Amino acid sequence: MSRPEQVLVLFGSPNKKGYTHILTSLYLEQLQNKLHNQMEIEYIYAYEKKYLPCLGCEKCDTTGVCIWNQKDQYDQLLEKIQQADTVVLASPVYFSGFPAPLKALIDRAQQKYAVKFKDGKGVNQKLRRGVLISTCGADTTKFFPMLQLAAGMFFDCLDIGIAETLFASNTDDPGNIKISDMEQKARDVK
Ligand SMILES: Cc1cc2nc3c(=O)[nH]c(=O)nc-3n(C[C@H](O)[C@H](O)[C@H](O)COP(=O)(O)O)c2cc1C
Repeated sequence: MSRPEQVLVLFGSPNKKGYTHILTSLYLEQLQNKLHNQMEIEYIYAYEKKYLPCLGCEKCDTTGVCIWNQKDQYDQLLEKIQQADTVVLASPVYFSGFPAPLKALIDRAQQKYAVKFKDGKGVNQKLRRGVLISTCGADTTKFFPMLQLAAGMFFDCLDIGIAETLFASNTDDPGNIKISDMEQKARDVK
């Protein structure tokens, strides 16, 4: 029997029961149905892991390894990403971007960029499926392309291609957003 699909969720919200979590859970429910429950999910909470921010020291340009990896176990995260079939980046929009702890996690993928693309010879492989899930407070979709651009670069470094996106806006007022609408959006993802 083939192994269950390994799904790794890189979770960027400080709220474990907020809108980003609701939307992510709804997405995972749909995926679970599609895969007939043949899947295992692991969450990495960026606010708990507290990965250290990139120093721009460029040591990874030559070594391919970040100087912080041993200190904050980022190397274990890279290993998990390598093992995963699907990597979900789930985040609220903070000032048009990712919240700082998730941004730190993302920036540390520079060590992969350094060895893959620095000499211009890197091969942009898509070995794993990437999913971007995001929520924002305002009644607009204008922030999501910015997150998608950053997520695309992050995924590129890790041989992941963005296969799906799922966004929900207008969460500022609980009266604005209905869970049933979020459910419908999750169902609409191909
Ligand atoms: C520090 C901070 C910055 C934010 N920046 C934006 C923003 O730029 N645009 C926006 O539409 N919403 C912004 N929001 C609102 C959140 O994106 C929104 O409330 C989101 O759905 C929260 O997700 P959560 O329930 O998972 O915490 C911001 C919220 C905070 C706390």
